[in-house]
Amino acid sequence: MTTTSHTQMHTYMRTPDAARPESKYEKPVILPEMDDKDPARHAWADARFATDIMAEHALFFALLMPEELAARERAEALRFNAQFTELFNRIDGTPPPERGDLKSFIQSVVEPIKPFIEYKARLGDAQGSGELRSLVWPLFFDHTRHEAERWTRRMENLAKGEPELERKEVVSFWTNIMDEHARFVAHLLDPDEFELIERALNAGTVFSELHKGGIVGTVSALVAEPTTVVGSLVQNPEMDAVMSAAKTILDFKTEAARDIEGARIKSIIDPRLSDHVRREALKFIDELKRAV
Ligand SMILES: [Fe+2]
Ligand SMILES: [Fe+2]
Repeated sequence: MTTTSHTQMHTYMRTPDAARPESKYEKPVILPEMDDKDPARHAWADARFATDIMAEHALFFALLMPEELAARERAEALRFNAQFTELFNRIDGTPPPERGDLKSFIQSVVEPIKPFIEYKARLGDAQGSGELRSLVWPLFFDHTRHEAERWTRRMENLAKGEPELERKEVVSFWTNIMDEHARFVAHLLDPDEFELIERALNAGTVFSELHKGGIVGTVSALVAEPTTVVGSLVQNPEMDAVMSAAKTILDFKTEAARDIEGARIKSIIDPRLSDHVRREALKFIDELKRAV
């Protein structure tokens, strides 16, 4: 097969239908068309997405582990980064697997994630207990571990030929992730960025309430952060509260990514991290549209 892996799929850019990335930090997201139920194409797209995410988690750990504080852990992180980068390049450079190769394809993705889950758990505990004094928050280890575990579950479902996403799972997983991203951003902004810090914390509250699920979550999100929720529903009047909040946070992250790249926001946020969380918000929206 000589066709590229991108045929029959949609490439998502920061600006819809842009011909090329707007900066060296923007990474396009390639996903199956909305009506596509083919497990192999979903496996390829999600593996492509997740292995790049894993490579970046490893890179972020390394950036937050000065030699002086965590030389061994940093070296391990850089090895994971190299390994997942290689895996990503291999997937990106080949078409989706044939039906008969789906299981072995998924194995090749899930197996390397296992020791990385173990690393995130072990170092999360060490950082929490004070045994490790890196600059990685315990919650950042937990957050990235939850993502690794979730991609593993997703891959295992696809190996069984099940591409369907369940709305309850999608909402529960991603609202928690969005809540934590918002709180990460709030704590990585320059302490002088009062207004943005407040917006980020408010968004975190909205997602933590929406995480409770159903009408209860929506109502408590509305009660906790009326301006944020009403504001986002006003912008997206045709949507339910979760989709509306997800679109609002994607817009916030896209704008923040540009402002961080352009140094219009004062922060210690690496531009690769702002694009990373932007892509995760984009994936949330995409999954929400597919979920039943
Ligand atoms: Fe992530
Ligand atoms: Fe994340």
